[in-house]
Amino acid sequence: MEAAEKEEISVKDEAVDKNIFRDCNRIAFYRRQKQWLSKKSTYQVLLDSVTTVEDSTRFQIINEASKVPLLAEIYGIEGNIFRLKINEESPLKPRYEVPDVLTSKPSTVRLIPCSGDTGSLILADEKGDLRCHITANPFKVDLVSEEEVVMSINSLGQLYFEHLQILHKQRTAKENEEEASVDTSQENQEDLGLWEEKFGKFVDIKANGPSSVGLDFSLHEFEHLYGIPQHAESHRLKNTRDGDAYRLYNLDVYGYQIYDKMGIYGSVPYLLAHKLGRTIGIFWLNASETLVEINTEPAVEYTLTQMGPVAAKQKVRSRTHVHWMSESGIIDVFLLTGPTPSDVFRQYSHLTGTQAMPPLFSLGYHQCRWNYEDEQDVKAVDAGFDEHDIPYDAMWLDIEHTEGKRYFTWDQKRFPNPKKMQELLRSKKRKLVVISDPHIKIDPDYSVYVKAKDQGFFVRNQEGEDFEGVCWPGLSSYLDFTNPKVRGWYSSLFAFPVYQGSTDILFLWNDMNEPSVFRGPEQTMQKNAIHHGNWEHRELHNIYGFYHQMATAEGLIQRSKGKERPFVLTRSFFAGSQKYGAVWTGDNTAEWSYLKISIPMLLTLSITGISFCGADIGGFIGNPETELLVRWYQAGAYQPFFRGHATMNTKRREPWLFGEEYTRLIREAIRERYGLLPYWYSLFYHAHVASQPVMRPLWVEFPNELKTFDMEDEYMLGSALLVHPVTEPKATIVDVFLPGSNEVWYDCKTFACWEGGCTVKIPVALDTIPVFQRGGSVVPIKTTVGKSTGWMTESSYGLRVALSTKGSSVGELYLDDGHSFQYLHQQQFLHRKFSFCSSVLINSSADQRGHYPSKCVVEQILVLGLRKEPSSVITHSSDGKEQPVAFMYCAKTSTLNLKKLSLNIATDWEALIWLAMRQNITTYQSRYDAHGSTDPCGSLLPAAPSVLTASTLQHSLTHTSSHQASST
Ligand code: NOJ
Repeated sequence: MEAAEKEEISVKDEAVDKNIFRDCNRIAFYRRQKQWLSKKSTYQVLLDSVTTVEDSTRFQIINEASKVPLLAEIYGIEGNIFRLKINEESPLKPRYEVPDVLTSKPSTVRLIPCSGDTGSLILADEKGDLRCHITANPFKVDLVSEEEVVMSINSLGQLYFEHLQILHKQRTAKENEEEASVDTSQENQEDLGLWEEKFGKFVDIKANGPSSVGLDFSLHEFEHLYGIPQHAESHRLKNTRDGDAYRLYNLDVYGYQIYDKMGIYGSVPYLLAHKLGRTIGIFWLNASETLVEINTEPAVEYTLTQMGPVAAKQKVRSRTHVHWMSESGIIDVFLLTGPTPSDVFRQYSHLTGTQAMPPLFSLGYHQCRWNYEDEQDVKAVDAGFDEHDIPYDAMWLDIEHTEGKRYFTWDQKRFPNPKKMQELLRSKKRKLVVISDPHIKIDPDYSVYVKAKDQGFFVRNQEGEDFEGVCWPGLSSYLDFTNPKVRGWYSSLFAFPVYQGSTDILFLWNDMNEPSVFRGPEQTMQKNAIHHGNWEHRELHNIYGFYHQMATAEGLIQRSKGKERPFVLTRSFFAGSQKYGAVWTGDNTAEWSYLKISIPMLLTLSITGISFCGADIGGFIGNPETELLVRWYQAGAYQPFFRGHATMNTKRREPWLFGEEYTRLIREAIRERYGLLPYWYSLFYHAHVASQPVMRPLWVEFPNELKTFDMEDEYMLGSALLVHPVTEPKATIVDVFLPGSNEVWYDCKTFACWEGGCTVKIPVALDTIPVFQRGGSVVPIKTTVGKSTGWMTESSYGLRVALSTKGSSVGELYLDDGHSFQYLHQQQFLHRKFSFCSSVLINSSADQRGHYPSKCVVEQILVLGLRKEPSSVITHSSDGKEQPVAFMYCAKTSTLNLKKLSLNIATDWEALIWLAMRQNITTYQSRYDAHGSTDPCGSLLPAAPSVLTASTLQHSLTHTSSHQASST
């Protein structure tokens, strides 16, 4: 290891040094905006200037002091979205507008101007449900839906727009006099950081001077806000009144502090607000450093005393003010009007795209460490999984696998035969993931460096030379991924003949792409570095990592000639990164508190579009105690991206190194994950096509239950499973809130059943992962687990049918080849629907377009909550065959277990449960028709499931009676 690296690593071994990173008061544009806003200078709309141009309504806004005109544009976008853009009418030069994030030009709907009172303008969509009231003086916009003002813009008068100016020194005295927008007096200059901003030893020279923007939004009756990742913070956004604003500035913060609003690796400038009856979203499309203040004013009730003998009361509704401030760019904001959480998810993905459909292997378990030393090490670790009967799908190699941190190369001594190593993994149906960072070692003998340099593909410094900064390889230059040519070239490096030693089982990991620059200001790039198109780094800092992952994912697609789905994990991200792969939460620590905070951090990512997310299992920094490691595996098994990872100076922690008992516990957790893969994969398909997050905060599934709005120690996986990971040491009991007064919940292990709407105390041993299935759902599982997902393609399915209080359930299964784009281009997929009603479980097609030749069978059906013991069970296939089925019934747990079935997953069939009380319905066809009717359950409901209390938790299948299959 080179001296420079050692130094970096030892520096990085210390806890976060807050002096390296800025808080709000050390950010000049924040101070400027605060100073200006205290002056309460207002903007007004020039109503004479209103025009309709193509699909937008435009008008001028003028500040009473500066008089420089701004141009506002309002668009209606399909799906109940408003877009408000504010820019200078004629800036000195163009201001940065974030490209490449919106999936396509959003399809607009015409907003019709209606006459308002004098002094205002009303725009409405065609149906008139959604309206936008613009008050001219002072400028204010109210968004009205169904006669309710949902949100007001600039009602606090925090619109702020710094006009591009000629460099101070070049201006005439007269111009200086006229400039009233900020206090530019000499003594204030430095403090306000207009043209120059100091931070420690760093000086940021601003060629364009001050250019920040800001605006406030008041959300009426909303007190619960979520989103704006990434922060190591609670899921619900906190009031920032007494402390720092939430900062969105992508930074490499090793061992980041938790419950803190400082910016870490990625930024999604998008927040959601929720109240009973409505969910809305605000997407602030700006890639420069951004700060968000949140301030909730609770509802107040005044008693008006002067109103005669009876005191009249007046209520002021609660509201939350959100104040966005960005260092540069323009104001470009999308207002998503909901009204439901799913509507908001759809609206956001309409703008930025949905989660990419992951290859199936990537939903398995990933084994990573900085570093697996050499090919022998890889072989031994791989064999360890088989020896201990633990499934895993991907082995990961960190930076040490390369020749001196030159990405796309292999260390000749440690990895002399990378293809052979990959062949070994391939023979186990496993994959390899390697790292590729955006910094390129400055080395005239490194072909990647030479080619990039020759073509001018690096970010430049102020002098127009290649920017140089220190990272893992020592002195490096940074590829300018904002340039489409650079992305195209970088993508081409993944072609098999170019990337020597790579094969089609090799996938990618993008790290350090905030970008991380050791010894740079806040460990990142100077804001005045120059990118393609002459844009300063400050304009686009937060989108750099987004472009890196985009180019890598494109490269993987291209190397397969467009056939195969890529897998790329990235540390840095922006709005829309979901289209390119997965995200993880960076350098966490092996402490219980980091395990706990992984849940809200992942929930926040999930609701802002990034479903494929995870945290390093075990904690990256430090050595977890064994109990913590086990609990982390258990939690990780129920989080979307599931990877164990550890930094270089930690003890080895492969799952079998802690004695048999702990090996068993970790094995069990990983096997549970593999058993549930059909459900996971189906959820990802749903995220991909229907924009719904895989991991969901409770409020998303139970939007009318106030109690769920603050919950972050448990969550839903899809709509069927509630997970409450154990995140405390030595836990013997966890309090699990089971929402929904009309719901019923089943413990996935014991099958104990509870009515919703209460908190239950669940006893936990070290092998307990509290997971509950919601009554009314069918969860598809695999009945046997293999060495990796690849070994499980042919294995049988099971269906866990959990009955609702009405005795019915529905669920889905999606499946395809697990790796290619044929699901998209050739409709090679299966999408099945399972519905249980009137004691009949029906497997039917959920999407007739799809075809996939699967020979897999459903081998087991478990019905939870069936109160009556059936007299017989038969299956009925679409070709008319009837088959009696052997079953076991447990009266104590109200569980019916149908085993040794052989029902093809891909074809239509029914399983009929003959309850003693049940009237026979005659033919297959008539039963099928009955299912399609509006009230399919009719009067054939089985009795309601028996509801147990926590005290009757001792469940087993001891009271099980078995029935041989007999002809009906
Ligand atoms: C920082 C990443 O966060 C970590 O996961 C990785 O192991 C190191 N860089 C070395 O590449």
